[in-house]
Amino acid sequence: MAGKKKSPESLRSHRWYGVKDLKSFGHRSRTYQMGYAKDDFHGKPVIAILNTWSDINQCHAHFRERVADIKRGIWASGGFPLELPALSLSEPLVKPSTMLYRNLLAMEAEELLRSHPVDGAVLMGGCDKTTPALIMGAISMDVPAIYFPAGPMLRGNWGGQTLGSGSDVWKYWDEKQAGAISEAQWEDMEMGIARSFGHCMTMGTASTMTAIADSLGFCIPGASSILASDSAHPRMAAACGKRIVDMVWEDLKPSDFLSQASFDNALTVHMALGGSTNAIIHLVAMARRASFEMSLDRFDERSREVPVLADVRPSGRFLMEDFYYAGGLRALMKELAGELDLSARTVMGGDIAAAIAEAVNYNREVIHPLDQPIGEAAATAILYGNIAPDGAVMKPSAADPRFLKHSGPALVFRDYNHMAAEIDRDELDVTPDSVIVLQNSGPVGGPGMPEWGMLPIPKKLLKQGVRDMLRISDARMSGTSYGACVLHVSPESHIGGPFAAVRTGDFVSVDVEKRALNIDVAEAEIARRLAAFKPPPRAITRGYTVMYADHIQQAHLGCDFDFLLGAKGVPEPEIH
Ligand code: FES
Repeated sequence: MAGKKKSPESLRSHRWYGVKDLKSFGHRSRTYQMGYAKDDFHGKPVIAILNTWSDINQCHAHFRERVADIKRGIWASGGFPLELPALSLSEPLVKPSTMLYRNLLAMEAEELLRSHPVDGAVLMGGCDKTTPALIMGAISMDVPAIYFPAGPMLRGNWGGQTLGSGSDVWKYWDEKQAGAISEAQWEDMEMGIARSFGHCMTMGTASTMTAIADSLGFCIPGASSILASDSAHPRMAAACGKRIVDMVWEDLKPSDFLSQASFDNALTVHMALGGSTNAIIHLVAMARRASFEMSLDRFDERSREVPVLADVRPSGRFLMEDFYYAGGLRALMKELAGELDLSARTVMGGDIAAAIAEAVNYNREVIHPLDQPIGEAAATAILYGNIAPDGAVMKPSAADPRFLKHSGPALVFRDYNHMAAEIDRDELDVTPDSVIVLQNSGPVGGPGMPEWGMLPIPKKLLKQGVRDMLRISDARMSGTSYGACVLHVSPESHIGGPFAAVRTGDFVSVDVEKRALNIDVAEAEIARRLAAFKPPPRAITRGYTVMYADHIQQAHLGCDFDFLLGAKGVPEPEIH
């Protein structure tokens, strides 16, 4: 391997395995207990494989096979693999929201790496929150680490029609609510939309976050686009295993290959992908872990400069399978080269220029060239105003353009249950111009900032053919969602942010061009309402959720815990 900096005696695991004392007798004898021989692990890099497989994570169903491929690569390269199970965070099945647990997995990743005799790590993730969580933990622990992405699943198929994860569910649910789809058709769709292992195959949070990991330099370049069920995927797994052993000898840690340029590149790629709004929170959190700058304003600025090039749903027409066949992320980054800092480094030890040198765009309908973007609308707009002084997020490229400048009377729901009980009432006082507002759905209020932000269109309007409305909340929405949804209002209403002051009937205005989000209510009246504000009681008063609510930061700061910021100061464990 190039540039060997480490010797067996300077490996972190040497403190457990290499020294001659009473404790290390225990470490070695207990490793022999598992059937390993001396030359299996003595003096070798110990590689932790953080595996987020579980029986209930559909997107990681292939991880038991892939972990064997990763181990094959580690053995072949002279390392010693240790598989460590980690919280698996199935996006659809974990309630109330996987976002409540992103930081728990990030902490687990950090502590697994810290407490075990680990010299390097392969991070196995893909389903939405697993990517940022594993990377946040690895950044803080700062041992050599490589990210192994789960890969997208196959296109959905329903009676010959292509279906996209999430996006088509919302679309056809509205059709079903309007009476245009039968129960039997709906059941057929349930069975056809997710046809293989792998993560959602629209440009949802999973595809966005794995591409961000890749563009940060955390993956074998281009790995994030490989379909989970393609034979290139197990080959990529083995390559991760081989590469991480060399990274340990080269002492190539996240702090060595990550830079401000890496995060700026990731943000640029996010824009060109028309990526998930969730990724904004995660990218801010990851950058702050690494002590780099990443503000909401930077997203807005780059959104005006970088157009959407990936014609992938929900902003475009195609799916990740098409994106992979078109050349994948490396082809997109090559089209985008003029907007990237090509000197940023990767886990390969080289730079982004080397990573994309051989990339080819095979289909310019799927990956558009920079001078022919897929549309005019920006991927991300950050709105500010008297109900969102710290910002709110909108995805104009996925909204009906007539709502990019809109005013209407607010219809306010104080929490999710209130909305669920009222929204489909025939007598609901609502028109297509109304602005639906949901409070108490933010980081503390949710809790966990659930993906409720694509607020439902009232049934009586669906029946009239209405398919989009202006909707505002302090929640998030799925990356596969679409519509005129203003999200992540910060600070959230639950902690007394001015969003708590909105009342039904207030006139709400959004002007995306001016990046403005306001209610037409006098400042003194807003202050009066907020002075009378009493925080609702916390829904959960025990366990992890209490610690979460005490330490979670607001959306514009990335929703990390206040005690986990920065990469410095993770203490090495005492070995007594
Ligand atoms: Fe796992 Fe969408 S459910 S990525």
